[in-house]
Amino acid sequence: MMYPDYRPRRLRRNENLRSLVRETVLTPARLIYPVFVMPGKNKREEIPSMPGVFRLSVDRLAAEAKECRELGVNHIILFGLPENKDRVGSGAHAADGIIQRAVKELKNKVPELTVSTDVCMCEYTSHGHCGIIHEGEVDNDATLEVLARTALSHAKAGADIVAPSDMMDGRVGEIRTILDEHNFDQVAIMSYAVKYASAFYGPFRDAADCAPQEGDRRGYQMDPANAREALREATLDVEEGADILMVKPAMAYLDIIRMLRDEFDHPIAAYQVSGEYAMLKAAAANGWLDGEQVMAESLLSIHRAGADVILTYFAKDMARLL
Ligand code: PBG
Repeated sequence: MMYPDYRPRRLRRNENLRSLVRETVLTPARLIYPVFVMPGKNKREEIPSMPGVFRLSVDRLAAEAKECRELGVNHIILFGLPENKDRVGSGAHAADGIIQRAVKELKNKVPELTVSTDVCMCEYTSHGHCGIIHEGEVDNDATLEVLARTALSHAKAGADIVAPSDMMDGRVGEIRTILDEHNFDQVAIMSYAVKYASAFYGPFRDAADCAPQEGDRRGYQMDPANAREALREATLDVEEGADILMVKPAMAYLDIIRMLRDEFDHPIAAYQVSGEYAMLKAAAANGWLDGEQVMAESLLSIHRAGADVILTYFAKDMARLL
């Protein structure tokens, strides 16, 4: 059927018609809000390059979590800024580490909330790399053991989902094994299966003070030029026991999200990262873009591309709009 018999504009005439045939509908239940936890008491510091996003001390977390819940956002992911860093990232798996305390606090005060934890070492190492350095390189297999201990310590604290973001080979399997050995077979793994070596992480590295002191992450994170490799990465993680596959960043990698959606039947997550948030916020602050509309459009497009779950610093703002 062709024009004039078929007129696509017929179903666009008013909001009732448009919403009747809308293909993609975003709900707050699909959003995960990333939260940065910092040492100290009664602290709430705004991150300069991420207006509206704060680092919170453990005692301020429950209030934040309750606000999320009231908005229909039932899920947060925690990132930690430890008191001290060292070469082997001991703070990542300390039983009384910042994340372990944060998870306990949240599970205690806001038990209805689902809590994910980022499992990585870059926030805890003095050199800022995501693993153990050996002869000038991040040693994959030496790092696995530390990651597994970290994931286990998060599970012991009460985490519902652990999310390894380090990009070491074999870490999902290692984490699954240690969790199962300790009877945490119900703790899920959301793997950062396809994480690119992206400049869009800039503001996060300020927020979490985790930029590598020397070199970059291209030896372990993926080359932005590669798409087929994303399938190999995701296949490995599925075989090793990942429950949710994540693509990161989101907006510049919508093709990858779609590819994973078509190839796998696992839930797909996408992380709209700090730089994506910062650029939309900056343009809106200058009056160059309508902040609310670009937020909604960017998140809708990530969902439309195939992400079931979206990690975004806009989670609360978006939920308010929905
Ligand atoms: C830790 C980690 C990073 C992000 C999430 N986990 C930083 C990095 O890999 O450099 C980035 C999140 C964001 O930019 O919002 N490895």
